[in-house]
Amino acid sequence: MKTLSLSFIGFGNVGRSVARVLLDKKQFFKERYGIEFKTVSITDSSATVWDEEIDLREALIVKENFGSLSKWTNDYEVFDLKPIDVVREVESDIVIDVTNDLNAHVWHLQALREGRSIVTSNKPPLAFHYRELMREANRRGLSYKFEATVMAGTPIITLLQEALKGDRIERIEGVFNGTTTFILSRMERGESFEEALRKAQELGIAERDPSGDINGVDAGYKATILHCVAFEPITFEDVILKGIGGITRREVMEARGRGNTIRLVAKIEKGNVIVEPREIPRNSPLAVAETQNAAVIKTDLLGELLLRGAGAGLKETASGVVSDIIRASKIKI
Ligand SMILES: NC(=O)c1ccc[n+]([C@@H]2O[C@H](COP(=O)([O-])OP(=O)(O)OC[C@H]3O[C@@H](n4cnc5c(N)ncnc54)[C@H](OP(=O)(O)O)[C@@H]3O)[C@@H](O)[C@H]2O)c1
Repeated sequence: MKTLSLSFIGFGNVGRSVARVLLDKKQFFKERYGIEFKTVSITDSSATVWDEEIDLREALIVKENFGSLSKWTNDYEVFDLKPIDVVREVESDIVIDVTNDLNAHVWHLQALREGRSIVTSNKPPLAFHYRELMREANRRGLSYKFEATVMAGTPIITLLQEALKGDRIERIEGVFNGTTTFILSRMERGESFEEALRKAQELGIAERDPSGDINGVDAGYKATILHCVAFEPITFEDVILKGIGGITRREVMEARGRGNTIRLVAKIEKGNVIVEPREIPRNSPLAVAETQNAAVIKTDLLGELLLRGAGAGLKETASGVVSDIIRASKIKI
C-alpha cells in the first residue's frame, strides 16, 4: 500500500466536495490502486490546520458549521500560515489548489521547487503562467495536473494530453461557460438580459459578481488553457474576447426565428483564439443547454470528435480533481 500526503489549499465548495469523495471512496482507492491518502494540512483564507493526519470528516463538520478553519481550536493546532508558507513548511506529496487565488502561480512554483506535485482547479495560474509552471514541473519530474480547470470533470485535458498522440489538432470549438448558456436560453424564452441574470444568481449558477462569466473572461481562461495544451503556450492576453453583455432579447429572438441559437463560443486554432457570441444552428453539437459544455475537436486523422458533458457542478468538478490526484500519485495503473 502506498500512502500519499495531501495539502488542501482552499476548502470551499470544490475543496469540500473533493474531501467527501476521498472519504467515501477510500476503500475503492485502496482496492483498485493500492493507495491511500492522508491529509496533513488544510488552508482557507482564515488559517491553516496542520497535523500528522487530519480527520477530513471532522474538518467538513467544522468548516460547514463555523465557516472558517480559524475557529477549529479544540482538536488541532491552528496556524497563521498562508499558502506560500504551507508549501514551504508542510511536508506533503501533493498540493491541491482549489482556491480562486489569482496569484496562486507564485506558490505553485514554490511548491514545485520544494518537490511537491500540484493538482488544481484554479484557472488564472495556467492562463497567465502555463509555460513557466510546466517547465518547472517537467524539470523536476513532478506532476502538474489541471483537468478540472476546463469542463469540470469532463476529461478534455487528459484526452488532449494522453490520447490523440499521432493526430495533429486543427481546431477546437466549444462552449465552456454555463452561466452565459443559461442566460441566453432564458432570453430565448422571452426574458431580458437583466431578468435572466438575476435568475441565474438566485439559482446559484452565476456568482454574486458575474462579470467574469458575462464578459467572457472565464471562457477566455479556458480557451487559453486549451490552446496551451493542444498547440503551444500562450497567455490570456493573446485571446480576442467579446462577452454577451451587448446581446439583446431582440437579437436572440431573431436568431431563434431563423432556427438558430446564440451561444458564447470559443474557437481555438494555432495562434488564434477567439471567444465571442455566435449564432449557431439549433441542431449544432454546440447548442448545449444548462451547465453542459461541449467541444468539437478536429484532427487530421480522426476528423471531428465531439466531447459533451458537465461543465460545472461540485461532484463533477471533484471527479476531475480526484482523477488528477490519482494520476499525480504516479502509481502503475
Ligand atoms: N464550482 C465549480 O463548479 C467549479 C468548477 C470548475 C473549477 N472551479 C474552480 O475551483 C476553484 C474553487 O471553486 P469553489 O467553487 O470551491 O470556490 P469557493 O467555494 O469560493 O472556495 C474557495 C476556497 O479558497 C479559499 N481561498 C481563496 N483564496 C485563498 C487564499 N489566498 N489563501 C487561502 N485560501 C484561499 C477560500 O477560503 P474561505 O473559505 O475562507 O473563503 C475557500 O475555502 C475556483 O478557482 C473555481 O474557478 C469551480
